[in-house]
Amino acid sequence: METRIKIADILLDSLPFIRVFRGKVVVIKYGGSAQVNPRLKEQFAKDVVMMYMLGIKPVIIHGGGKDVSKMLETLHIPTEFIDGHRVTTQESMPVVEMVLSGRINKELSTFLNHHGIKAVGVSGKDGGLFEAVSKDGSDYTGKITHVDVSLLTTLLDNGFVPVIAPIAGSCEANHPGYNINADLVACEIAKSLNAFKVVFLTDTKGVLDAGGSLLPTLNEEKILQLTKQGVIAGGMLPKMQACLECVKNGVQKVHIIDGRVEHSLLLELFTSAGVGTEIVP
Ligand SMILES: Nc1ncnc2c1ncn2[C@@H]1O[C@H](COP(=O)(O)OP(=O)(O)OP(=O)(O)O)[C@@H](O)[C@H]1O
Ligand SMILES: [Mg+2]
Repeated sequence: METRIKIADILLDSLPFIRVFRGKVVVIKYGGSAQVNPRLKEQFAKDVVMMYMLGIKPVIIHGGGKDVSKMLETLHIPTEFIDGHRVTTQESMPVVEMVLSGRINKELSTFLNHHGIKAVGVSGKDGGLFEAVSKDGSDYTGKITHVDVSLLTTLLDNGFVPVIAPIAGSCEANHPGYNINADLVACEIAKSLNAFKVVFLTDTKGVLDAGGSLLPTLNEEKILQLTKQGVIAGGMLPKMQACLECVKNGVQKVHIIDGRVEHSLLLELFTSAGVGTEIVP
C-alpha cells in the first residue's frame, strides 16, 4: 500500500510541470553522442511518448556525428571538423545524408511508432522545411537561410511527431543539399515554431568547467569567457551558439542534459531537481 501511495505522490509532484508544458511545443535535440545503444534509444522513445501523452507537442531533431564518422571511416573517406562543424565534401555528402536522413532518422521514427505515437521522419528537403547556403565557403556544410514550418504545423496539428534530420535543401537546382550541425537546426526550428523549450541531449552531464565539474547555469558573458579560455570547444561550440540564439529569440527554457542517463528527459521536464546546464539570457 505504502509503495502505491508513493507512486501517487510522485505523479502528483509532476502536476505543476504538466500544467506548464501542456499544449506547448518542446524541441528536443537528440545528439548522436547520446544514441549509443538500443536500450537508450528505446528509453528515449518512451520518454517522448510520455511527453506526448501528457499533452506536450514534441519536435525531435537528431544528430548522428559518431555514426557518420564510423561510416566514413569504413568507406575510407577522410573527414575533419572545424570549430565543432564537420567539413562536408562532395565525397562525404552522400554518406552523411544516407546515415542521417536514411538510417538514423528512420530508426528513430520506428522506435517512436513502436511505442504508440505517429512519428514522421523528414529532413530539411521535405516540404521546403529549411534551405541553406554554403557556410564559410565549405562545399556541403551549410548555414540555414530560410525555414518554412508549414509542414511541421500541419503534422503537429494532426497529432504527428516530427523527427528531423539535419540535411538542408539548396535553392540551386541539382544541388545535393547541405549538411548542417543539428544543434543549429534545432535552434532555427525552435525559433520558427515559437517553441517554449529546447532540450539538448548529449554525452556529458552538461557544460563542464576546466576541472570537469558541471556548470548548472550559464549566460552569454560566461560562455564567451569559457570559449576564450578553450574550456568550451569542439561540439560544444555550435551547441552554445544555438542555445544563446534560442534564449535571445523568445525560447523561454534551454537546457543541455546527459542523454546517456536513462529518462534524463523526463527528469528534466517533470521534476524540480535540476539536471544538466541551463542557459539563461
Ligand atoms: N566545456 C565542455 N563541457 C562539456 N562538453 C564539452 C565541453 N567542451 C567541449 N565539449 C565536447 O562537446 C561534446 C558534445 O558535442 P558533440 O557534437 O560531440 O555531441 P552532440 O552534439 O550531442 O552529437 P551530434 O553532434 O552527433 O549531434 C562532448 O562530448 C565534449 O567532448
Ligand atoms: Mg554536435
